[in-house]
Amino acid sequence: MSAQAKHAERGAAILSARDVRKHYGGVKALKGVDFDIYPGTVTTLFGENGAGKSTLMKILSGVEQPTEGQIVLDGEPVRFASTVDARERGISIIHQELSLAPNLSVRDNIFMGRELVRNGSVDYAEEARQAAALMAELEEDIDPLTPVGELRVGQQQIVEIARSLSVNSRILIMDEPTSALSATEVEVLFKVIRDLTSRSVALVYISHHLEEALEITDYAVVLRDGSMTAKAERSEIDLPWIVRKMVGENFDLGTPPTGYEFGDVALSIESVSVADVSVAGRSAVDKLSLDVQAGEIVCIYGLMGAGRTELLEAVAGGSPLSGGRVLLNGRNISGLSIAQRIEAGLCLVPEDRQRDGLVQTMTVGRNLSLASIGSFVRGMLLSRRAENDLVNDAIRDVTVKTDGPHAMIGSLSGGNQQKVVIGKMLTTQPKVILLDEPSRGIDIGAKAEVFRLLAERAKQGTAVVYSTSEVNECLSIAHRIVVMGRGRIVAEFGPDVPKEQIMAASGESAAA
Ligand SMILES: Nc1ncnc2c1ncn2[C@@H]1O[C@H](COP(=O)(O)OP(=O)(O)OP(=O)(O)O)[C@@H](O)[C@H]1O
Ligand SMILES: [Mg+2]
Repeated sequence: MSAQAKHAERGAAILSARDVRKHYGGVKALKGVDFDIYPGTVTTLFGENGAGKSTLMKILSGVEQPTEGQIVLDGEPVRFASTVDARERGISIIHQELSLAPNLSVRDNIFMGRELVRNGSVDYAEEARQAAALMAELEEDIDPLTPVGELRVGQQQIVEIARSLSVNSRILIMDEPTSALSATEVEVLFKVIRDLTSRSVALVYISHHLEEALEITDYAVVLRDGSMTAKAERSEIDLPWIVRKMVGENFDLGTPPTGYEFGDVALSIESVSVADVSVAGRSAVDKLSLDVQAGEIVCIYGLMGAGRTELLEAVAGGSPLSGGRVLLNGRNISGLSIAQRIEAGLCLVPEDRQRDGLVQTMTVGRNLSLASIGSFVRGMLLSRRAENDLVNDAIRDVTVKTDGPHAMIGSLSGGNQQKVVIGKMLTTQPKVILLDEPSRGIDIGAKAEVFRLLAERAKQGTAVVYSTSEVNECLSIAHRIVVMGRGRIVAEFGPDVPKEQIMAASGESAAA
């Protein structure tokens, strides 16, 4: 079929960007992009971190104004003054960075700014009913009155999705909607997306889970360095095509590092229990034991809610143990604070970068050096030279795309912020490094780079514990794969296990 015939088949675009440019000071985030959104179709936007994907979506949803170029809605040029303006014309967006108010309930977050009013007052009961119906549609068992701050990141992401579904948009933009979801939850979301497209809703989808995105997409568009470099129908492309168009070459994530021997046990988790904050009397982690040797990379695989985050947070000192103890090189560190544990050589790359990983009001440089600030104190003075060297090394090592150490952290693309979180922890020269879903939002090139850095650290004797819900990541980096379910270890595998077996052990359908 000719390109033109395909076009005719898809019908007219509802919303288009025409030669859109966006400049932030000297940074050219978009350099003249044409982009079309069609009814009843999922269009996926692929591209490396900092390619301009979120910027383009922000412009199409009224968050940002283009520096130059036009937005066309139903054939007419438009200008969205705000997100409210765009929403009133049927366009809504799920942001990459969650935008929920943590101390408000699920219900109040969903209806924030557009409360259901009846007889002059807010109809809270009706709001709660609709919120519960949305959560049921997303197959998530969450009470609408729960404060969002008490939910796990993945659950918060589902609330964010529910909020956008509640608007009944013609165009729904999803910027990394699944970065914290388990495979089962992604399946539910995809069912919802298919239902929306069957009702002629137009979807734009952005994700660094490339395989997953390919599963749902009808039409793929690739951005590179602010320009569109490729577009194609789903039937014309495959995974290598996307990687090639994104990064200009073909590669995979590699295999676990070999050719050296592990050292002594560096981290010993002894019968550790952690109370579940949301259910009194229940344990999020239940008498779990795990030893990790120096130089060893252990992946903890599991669904959301398996207890991985609770385990890692407790080991890092962020929450109390309700039983058991944690040893670092044989020394009991259970009573130490987070800072003391970092000092002792144990650190965590947290799951929620917004809350725990970064200080949004600081520069890239300060965020990077924050965790290891103690090592720059010479007498009473901070050694600027040492700090600068370290920051510049970290920016280079984790390939952060930024104007430099003085840029504010908020000006970085989502994936580049995540790289700063990882870089920050690596600067502390840890003996044990814990990472909780660290590849969230980073592109395949950066992921390979992070794996290379972790492998290098492991070879130098660092013990690595890497929590993930992506089987392919386990197989690319782990010497040992530990499957967690309901707060316990339910299975353990070597590096050559078939991936179906890992998924089956966690209770997932292997078809996912
Ligand atoms: N408010 C801002 N101020 C300065 N620069 C910005 C701002 N917002 C974005 N940029 C820059 O624009 C470029 C594109 O960023 P954008 O967030 O669109 O990338 P992205 O493709 O969404 O990446 P990711 O996959 O990491 O989310 C980046 O270089 C980023 O640093
Ligand atoms: Mg982005």
